[in-house]
Amino acid sequence: MSKFSKDSIIGVIGAGAMGSGIAQVAAMAGHNVVLFDTNEAALDKSRVGLEKVLSRLVEKGKIESVASITSKYTYASDLSAFRECSLVIEAIIENLDVKKKVFAEVEHVVSADCVLASNTSSLSVTSIAAACKSAERVLGLHFFNPAPLMALVEVVPAVQSDDAIVQECKALMNEWKKVPVIAKDTPGFIVNRVARPFYGEAIRMMEEGIADAATIDWAMTEIGGFRMGPFTLTDYIGHDVNYVVTETVFQSFFYDPRYKPSFSQKRLLEAGWLGRKSGRGFFNYAEGAVQLEANKDETLGRNIVERIVAMLINEAVDALHLNIASAQDLELAMTKGVNYPKGLLAWCDEWGADKVLNILDGLYNEYHEDRYRASVLLRRAAIGGTKFM
Ligand SMILES: NC(=O)c1ccc[n+]([C@@H]2O[C@H](COP(=O)([O-])OP(=O)(O)OC[C@H]3O[C@@H](n4cnc5c(N)ncnc54)[C@H](O)[C@@H]3O)[C@@H](O)[C@H]2O)c1
Repeated sequence: MSKFSKDSIIGVIGAGAMGSGIAQVAAMAGHNVVLFDTNEAALDKSRVGLEKVLSRLVEKGKIESVASITSKYTYASDLSAFRECSLVIEAIIENLDVKKKVFAEVEHVVSADCVLASNTSSLSVTSIAAACKSAERVLGLHFFNPAPLMALVEVVPAVQSDDAIVQECKALMNEWKKVPVIAKDTPGFIVNRVARPFYGEAIRMMEEGIADAATIDWAMTEIGGFRMGPFTLTDYIGHDVNYVVTETVFQSFFYDPRYKPSFSQKRLLEAGWLGRKSGRGFFNYAEGAVQLEANKDETLGRNIVERIVAMLINEAVDALHLNIASAQDLELAMTKGVNYPKGLLAWCDEWGADKVLNILDGLYNEYHEDRYRASVLLRRAAIGGTKFM
């Protein structure tokens, strides 16, 4: 049991995609919810969207009535509405200065024991907490989009966070039927850090002419067992979102070449080819457009999968080495957050650390690029023949 009860009122700042989803999760878990936005139109859009979603849930027999959930909502355009809240989760624009200002303002309104959380994807939770007088009550609660459907929540303690509060929030996420994992406050937390080669190495191989987008996607789904290939997935996420995350992670890691963005994706963004939503990205979604045919060569396919998966495993092992998260949480994050077919550490055990190391060292020797450096923990596991799980 967490210190929060069903009577605890949950505040949400920002009624966009994430704030609306998080408010819905809290209301469906039984809480009264205060949803705040400075933009009236955003509040209206959120209200209409919620009613649509709830109507579908009624049809499916998942909830009794739309009113059983909407009656728990208060829509607010004044921060004073948060006065009675036990937890306020912020999901506004991804801008550090704006977030800091909002946290400082909210802290004036809420009670002394109200917990303040940010849903930031890429900013330092520690920096946000520093805007508050009681920084120990601030932490990150990083939900995935769409929040009502995605199970994973990365719970991110700031340097200043009180550990008891972190554990209470983790327990609350369990009560909300989420899968919480604890992630260190470092760029990209777990998922947005470890997943980078899924996109980056795939694009790199395409740029080098090793295979085209259709072939790489075929290999990663049919041979690798991923639900979507990297090109279909980035087209689906939108290059405006996916490229910006890559660029932010790269800059935040002091320009570590492992996370270097690609010109191919940058150009898509510049062309306004944002993916599915704009009708064109790596693939063309116009009606009747000629689609690329995958080259279903088994050996080529296996090489593609081995190169990308070895890079992903290396990221997971390095995150473990640097205590970004526990082995168990790393596995949960990649299977529940981005639906990987297996945890990457388990995958390493299955292949053997020596095989993964051979792939990486082979790439490193060939390219002489820091991008392919193996984690020292992977090297130790290969030498010692040890397993991670
Ligand atoms: N979209 C995603 O896939 C995703 C996933 C995880 C985390 N996040 C993070 O969640 C946050 C919100 O993202 P989103 O996609 O929901 O954005 P969004 O643009 O859909 O919504 C943001 C909302 O915040 C409101 N807002 C802006 N400034 C405000 C302020 N000062 N006070 C109150 N409301 C304000 C806007 O009116 C808007 O309704 C960001 O920090 C983002 O990085 C996004």
